[in-house]
Amino acid sequence: MSAAADDLLARVKAPGAVPRHVAIIMDGNGRWARERMLPRPIGHRNGMKSVRAVVEASIEAGVEVLSLFAFSQENWQRPAGEVSALMSLLEEYIQTEANELDEKGVRVVFLGDLDRLAERQRAAVDGVMAQTAHNGTLVLNLFISYGARAEITRAVRLIAEDVAAGRMTPAQVDEAAIAGRLFTAGCPDPDLLIRTSGEMRISNFLLWQLAYTELHISPVLWPDFGRRELFDAILDFHSRDRRFGRVSA
Ligand code: IPE
Ligand code: IPE
Ligand code: MG
Repeated sequence: MSAAADDLLARVKAPGAVPRHVAIIMDGNGRWARERMLPRPIGHRNGMKSVRAVVEASIEAGVEVLSLFAFSQENWQRPAGEVSALMSLLEEYIQTEANELDEKGVRVVFLGDLDRLAERQRAAVDGVMAQTAHNGTLVLNLFISYGARAEITRAVRLIAEDVAAGRMTPAQVDEAAIAGRLFTAGCPDPDLLIRTSGEMRISNFLLWQLAYTELHISPVLWPDFGRRELFDAILDFHSRDRRFGRVSA
């Protein structure tokens, strides 16, 4: 590693400054492909390299949780050919990366409506989750078939069932009761949300969990996003004054 790269890492790791939980809306694969007159799935394939780079850089920086939005509930409405290309890539990603992720101490967790996955992908997803369940270096949350409104709706339904069955009273329904029934139960809220490709919207990602998350919009398209860009986002995060509604110290 060059001296300049080392210096960058040292600045990223300034005491007390690394975000514990980084979430990323990985966007811009289609535009990356279009710029090169290539089919959209080639953009998605190149996006896999960015996933690898960002996982490695997160471990280097000491991030505890990395959440990646890979496929939304709304993305099922894309053309069938694109959906099946994305699902094949998901399977390929797991097949080629599972052992290395495991060796690096990454715990892979899939979150979303996994019942909508086909049997092959579902088996791959369940397999890597079981294989890496004991790991603790980095939690890699991969959101697939995920929508935040559906996640919150599901939590409310679970609470309604508990109340109807007498396991809980309406007075016990508080923020912790809701947070504890989201897919992310037990996980700290994201400190930093990155969206690539310059889009300034949340697109139904983590609506509950992002209440006080710092936002970083990068103009870079996802297949061009890597270590350097992640570290730039963390340096930007360092400059934020997180007040949580209070006044500055
Ligand atoms: C992000 O890239 C990947 C997914 C949403 C699955 P896009 O496919 O949304 O790329 P653009 O936004 O069309 O460029
Ligand atoms: C958000 O990107 C979903 C993922 C990155 C998986 P989209 O490309 O689907 O979002 P919109 O349609 O631009 O809001
Ligand atoms: Mg997009």
